[in-house]
Amino acid sequence: MKVENYVSLEFPSSSSNEGFARAAAACFAAQLDPTLEEINDVKTAVSEAVTNAIVHAYPDTLGKIVMKLRLREDHSLEIVVRDWGVGIADVEQARTPLFTTGSEERSGMGFTIMESFMDVLRVRSTPGKGTTVTMRRKIARRSGR
Ligand SMILES: Nc1ncnc2c1ncn2[C@@H]1O[C@H](COP(=O)(O)OP(=O)(O)OP(=O)(O)O)[C@@H](O)[C@H]1O
Ligand SMILES: [Mg+2]
Repeated sequence: MKVENYVSLEFPSSSSNEGFARAAAACFAAQLDPTLEEINDVKTAVSEAVTNAIVHAYPDTLGKIVMKLRLREDHSLEIVVRDWGVGIADVEQARTPLFTTGSEERSGMGFTIMESFMDVLRVRSTPGKGTTVTMRRKIARRSGR
């Protein structure tokens, strides 16, 4: 699938960058003329993916996060969030609703939320090497605008 536009952002895993990543994704998505609902879905999914990289990938340090935003020719948005942190031993288990290795303020619903708000969710991870989360969401083409 042809990529028609893209941006790549690199930032450290400080919690203040979660809001930045969410806003940046919304700004990039604006060129697809999304509805408010579509924008909010994308922002929620980005927020979950980036929060995971901040909280789980680098529990005691600040590490590198890269977020890539791609506009594909089928009018879909692809978002890749990558970290070089601790990784996930069992991705299938991690994606199970309510599964968490976090403290009691985590509900274990991040991947479930990403899955429900996006059309595609792919998680690749190697323990000790890091995690790559790829999400895709089709934005409806609207006529008369
Ligand atoms: N980038 C990552 N690096 C390492 N481990 C991760 C990463 N993302 C997710 N995980 C692991 O997968 C588990 C499930 O993630 P998920 O986002 O579904 O839930 P959570 O982050 O624990 O809770 P919530 O997102 O509801 O606050 C996490 O508890 C963590 O063990
Ligand atoms: Mg999470």
